[in-house]
Amino acid sequence: MVKEQYINNDYLEKYRGKNLPLLDEILEVRAKQARLLDSDANLVNISDLNALPDLKSNHAIFGNDVVEIGKRDELSDEDFEKLNETLLNLKPWRKGPWNYFGIDIDTEWRSNLKWDRFFNGVKPDFEGKRILDIGCNNLYYMYRTLAYNPELVVGFDPIARYYFHHLLNRKFVQDPRIQFELFGVEQAGLFKDFFDYAFFMGILYHRRDPLGSLKNVYDSLKRGGTIIMECSGIPGDDPLCLFPEGRYCQAPGYWFLPTWKSIENMLYRTGFTEIETFYKEPLTFDEQRKTSWIDTHSLEHFLDPEDISKTVEGYPAPVRIYTKAVKPLQRNKKIYD
Ligand SMILES: C[S@@+](CC[C@H](N)C(=O)[O-])C[C@H]1O[C@@H](n2cnc3c(N)ncnc32)[C@H](O)[C@@H]1O
Repeated sequence: MVKEQYINNDYLEKYRGKNLPLLDEILEVRAKQARLLDSDANLVNISDLNALPDLKSNHAIFGNDVVEIGKRDELSDEDFEKLNETLLNLKPWRKGPWNYFGIDIDTEWRSNLKWDRFFNGVKPDFEGKRILDIGCNNLYYMYRTLAYNPELVVGFDPIARYYFHHLLNRKFVQDPRIQFELFGVEQAGLFKDFFDYAFFMGILYHRRDPLGSLKNVYDSLKRGGTIIMECSGIPGDDPLCLFPEGRYCQAPGYWFLPTWKSIENMLYRTGFTEIETFYKEPLTFDEQRKTSWIDTHSLEHFLDPEDISKTVEGYPAPVRIYTKAVKPLQRNKKIYD
């Protein structure tokens, strides 16, 4: 049922034709990706969601640091307990903060800091725009955009749990502008020349093929559209990347960790213009830390306790680099020829 609902979602039909010439391919990929919903963990999520009431809350705040959905007195004690259990089963809560019907979710990341940085650095105009959030995780940034009245906000994430975050929110805020696809950056190019803004945050260093990924983001943007990028990288001004031998910050999925200058060069050689790095600072314990909403370790275990300028593996500790760039109105022939 959940799978059929996901596959049959028709929000893209109104764009069929000139706007989305590859819509049939998108729908084919969606039908394949739906297999990600077949797992035992999902059965727990589905029964949790079915137990909750369908209740359109009158209380939703998207313009503050905390995304607030619902008020305590809108739920019976019994439904409040069920909601609490559902939220706990959706752990780890990485991006936030959120508040559901009075339950504060102090997420691992204070993502409002990232939001403020890119919002101040880019000064985006989201009104009436189409936004793509690649690797949207639990949809925190997507809900924040609703305060600015966009036309459509599509989140891509190939992890099924985040689809259940989406369905949870849908129980209480039925806003058709927020949509979710079980896609990765690999699929972004199927939405050719479609989006005004693409968020590409926390992804590039997790990709084995960073340039191929940037090309996919580029293809998804309209001419004049903006990529808003945030990337874990290394300090320094030379155009270099660190390529760890194995783990970095204890995680296996780090490949190329660039300096700000490397990111700018990658964007330039992908064809972007108006490239600007507007923030580059070390990641701090104030922004990423262990809370009761995750059961795993956090930044304090990833850095060398004797010298926090290094990871536990002895590499330079991560710097967070924020960059914006625009897909030019005309193809830059120098780059592609
Ligand atoms: C480090 S988190 C970043 C989350 C969020 N964009 C942010 O900046 O806070 C990486 C996210 O990318 C998602 N992801 C995994 N594979 C992906 C892929 N192939 N393409 C895009 N995102 C992917 C993960 O599930 C996760 O939610």
